[in-house]
Parts: sequence; structure tokens; C-alpha cells
Amino acid sequence: MTQRRAAAPGKLRLFGEHAAVYGYPAVGVSLDRSLTVEVAPAPEWNFCFGGQAPCDDFDGEYQDFFPHLESVAARAGYAEQCADLRGHISVSTDLPIAAGFGSSAALCGAVARLLLPDDAVSEEIWRIAHRLEAFFHGTASGIDTGLSVLEGSLVFRFSQGREIPEAHPLALPEAAVVYGALPRQRSTRELVAAVRGHLESDPSATRDILNHLGTIADAVATGNAGDAHTLGTLASRAHALLRDLGVSSEAMNQLISKGIDAGALGGKLSGAGGGGAYFFVCHDLESARRVAAALNHRDYRRDTDGAAPPAILRIGESHR
Ligand code: PMV
Repeated sequence: MTQRRAAAPGKLRLFGEHAAVYGYPAVGVSLDRSLTVEVAPAPEWNFCFGGQAPCDDFDGEYQDFFPHLESVAARAGYAEQCADLRGHISVSTDLPIAAGFGSSAALCGAVARLLLPDDAVSEEIWRIAHRLEAFFHGTASGIDTGLSVLEGSLVFRFSQGREIPEAHPLALPEAAVVYGALPRQRSTRELVAAVRGHLESDPSATRDILNHLGTIADAVATGNAGDAHTLGTLASRAHALLRDLGVSSEAMNQLISKGIDAGALGGKLSGAGGGGAYFFVCHDLESARRVAAALNHRDYRRDTDGAAPPAILRIGESHR
């Protein structure tokens, strides 16, 4: 019988945002929080969220996902599997939604897993997840679905003519990471367009910043962040560059300073910016707990404005 339940994790972008749009590598890690989809066979497709009934309570705009799913499946030769899968898709997750932690990529990863045969290779699941994600993100880079399908800490490298980037596992230094999100004021699309605008109006300064960001991502990607201290220092340096690039926000800059004052080794915004996700690198769990407590941002309303309270993720060899 066809598998009817699958889960896929969310992600945290660590380094390379914005520079990745211009060909530099990107580094990220999958989270220990995931999204689960469970399909109950039915003549019509439908989404339901958090085990709610009736199924049609889910936001109507997502209904258009299903023709997209059918066309992606048909083009890849999985029309029959897609017809077999049709039903009510119940989605449950402990991932903050629309907060920059890859909930839509995880949804696509989990659906791709259900669509493809059990013996499908990860690269094929990733490719299908990536095509599905176009529904949510237009031209997605493939990083979020890559982290969700392949899992672990990964480096992504882009080259022309490839539909999805190349992904390689990366050994990160052992550290405790505090991550969360502030309300998002600008979308990824707007922020990427703003950077393009800066490149036109002030090419040399903008190029310089992007090159620096790319060099930092490259240093981490080639294993040159040998310890938590270096990783933290590189994070703070990247944050200053992202701030200079105009993609941070005053609230984010203040939050980053607060975390560092509380003992983080470094921190930065994560992802496109405009508020949104952030992370701090901490020595150990104890220090991470102190940082998380100090951030204490109460200006979030879970599930509504894309913000998320601080959480802790352990990274590094012994945690994978
Ligand atoms: O905030 P997110 O997860 O959409 O991150 C976007 C990061 C960019 O580098 C700005 C775009 C990209 O796809 O790499």
C-alpha cells in the first residue's frame, strides 16, 4: 500500500544569504523540528491544518497547490502515483510558520516523499520538492528544500545550468545555537529586489559587501570555522555586512546586540532579513539558555506575524 504519512524538517540558514543570489555558496542546517503530512484518501484534494476538521478550514489560496502538484508529478512521470495519493492532506508541525524556518519547503519535502516510490534517491525527492516549492516562492534557490530532504549541516554551491545546487555535508564546530524570529516587515522577494537596486545605484560599495559576505560563507563552507568562537565571530561580521546592505532592521540590530551582551559568541540575522529569523552561536547549552532568556522578546504572536520565540539547537559532530 502507498505510504500516506511523511515528515520533513525545517531549516536554519547560517551563512551566504543574499551573496548566494550572486553565486556564492550558502550554508545551513536542518532543524530538529519538522512538518508532518498525512493523507486520507478522498476523491478531491484538500488541506487541513493541525488536525482540524472539516478539512476545508485551511486557507483557500493553498487550494491552487494541487493543480501545481499534479502538473509537477505528471511532468516528472509520476502522474499515476499522484492520482493514487489524492486525498485530504492533514498538516501538523511544531515549526513556526512563515518565520524563515522553511515550513513551506518542509511541506514540499514531505509531499515529495509521499509521491515518490520508497526507493527514490534523495536527489530526486529534492528535485520534486524544489519544483513543488515554486508554488510558494516562484524562483526558490533550492536551499530550503535541500536542507529539508537531505538533512544535517550542508553547503550549497551554485553553477549555471543546474536546476538545484550541489549539496555537500559540512562538519560544523560543536556549539549551541539560539534561534528565533522577529515579525517580518519585508518579503524575501522585496529584499532581493532592494539589493539589486543597491547594485544599480551604488555598484562598487554593494559589490564589496556581497563579496565580503560571500567570502565569509566560503570560509565556513570550506571548514575554516574550526571552533564555536570563530563561527560566532564570522556570524557577527556577516550581520554587520547585512546591516550595511540595508536588509536588517533596527529591532533586529538591537536584538543581536542584546544576545551578544548576554554572552553569545556572535549572532546574525538568518535568511533574507527585514526582521525575520536570527541566530546566535553559544559555547554550550547553559550559555544558550542565558542568551535565550535575555532576548525575551514578547512582540510575537505565533502563527500570525511570522515571529517565533527563541529556541535552542545543538550543532556539531557529536549531535548528528
Ligand atoms: O528568508 P529566506 O529563507 O527566504 O532566505 C532568502 C535568502 C536569500 O539569499 C536572500 C535568497 C536565496 O534564496 O538565497
